[in-house]
Amino acid sequence: MLLEALVALVALVLAFRVYYRVNSGRCHSQTSLVGKTAIITGGSAGIGKYTAKDLVRRGARVILACRNLEKACKVAAEIRESPGSVGEVVVRHLDTSDLASVRKFAEQILQTETAIHILINNAGILGPKEKQLTKDGLELTMVTNHFGHFLLTNLLLGLLKKSAPSRVINVSSSAHSQPKKLDPDSLNFEHDKYSVMAAYGQSKLCNVLFTQELAVKLSGSGVTANSVHPGAVNTGILDAHPLSFLICAIKIMFLAVSKDSELGAQTSIYVAVAEEVDGVSGRYFVDCKEAEPSQLAQQRQLAQQLWKSSEVAVKLQPHEKHY
Ligand SMILES: NC(=O)c1ccc[n+]([C@@H]2O[C@H](COP(=O)([O-])OP(=O)(O)OC[C@H]3O[C@@H](n4cnc5c(N)ncnc54)[C@H](OP(=O)(O)O)[C@@H]3O)[C@@H](O)[C@H]2O)c1
Repeated sequence: MLLEALVALVALVLAFRVYYRVNSGRCHSQTSLVGKTAIITGGSAGIGKYTAKDLVRRGARVILACRNLEKACKVAAEIRESPGSVGEVVVRHLDTSDLASVRKFAEQILQTETAIHILINNAGILGPKEKQLTKDGLELTMVTNHFGHFLLTNLLLGLLKKSAPSRVINVSSSAHSQPKKLDPDSLNFEHDKYSVMAAYGQSKLCNVLFTQELAVKLSGSGVTANSVHPGAVNTGILDAHPLSFLICAIKIMFLAVSKDSELGAQTSIYVAVAEEVDGVSGRYFVDCKEAEPSQLAQQRQLAQQLWKSSEVAVKLQPHEKHY
């Protein structure tokens, strides 16, 4: 009886896995990226690594913007050696949790690159159990996943505009729909209770709201901005975490319903290259299709407030504004 129940459970898990994978969106675009330059933050692992692999296969010059140079250089070598790699891959240091590092990276890009056609803000963490503030006084998950990318995008906007048509892709998550409110005066959990999932969900909501407002600000510039949810993807995002009830639950969920990183990269790739996304801006994509983000993520006023609070948080200077 027990054996039969176990076999039925395994069969059910396998059926879920197959169903989820078969129904996952795939990017079928044949777009060539020869002569194009792309930046991918967090390209040293998971979804970012497979996004980079694909863009290099299309002929792009891909800049892996990573905090761990040794790890990123190994990934860059692996991409160069993989069959069909016709583009170029280079590694630059970027720590999205450190505003000085973001400014240094952007300065280097502006000095060395003549064009940026694709910016994929992909780096992300599921933050620590206890709230941590960085040396900039920002909560670690929020700065890694949102503020760092907000600043980076703003610093590169002039070049992105000059390179138009160009695309900004913000890698969000379906977790953006978990928060039921967003207080622009408590983005670093000054007044609200911190938890791993509250911080992650809030940072991913900020990714979508930032995208919406960026799209409005860039209207008519030839630069588009869209956000994506890659699906449940079995990457190393949980690796830094000690086992807890939450982590175990997510790992078990990943066993039944998850994509590998190559499949998880498909929606980012699609929004970065597909012809049918030409000129499409301010949208949210799941499984290579447009989808509706949460009600909260569609509030224009909230997006405007978030933009203002984010400018203050990253101390955006007048000469750093290009919108
Ligand atoms: N996996 C999922 O199921 C899932 C679902 C929805 C959304 N997402 C989103 O997808 C994105 C990619 O995640 P993933 O699943 O591929 O995770 P991952 O395998 O852990 O990759 C995350 C990448 O971000 C980098 N990173 C983390 N903190 C950074 C920092 N401060 N500065 C620069 N780079 C940093 C990591 O660098 P290191 O290699 O140095 O650690 C790594 O390259 C994230 O934004 C995540 O929120 C994932």
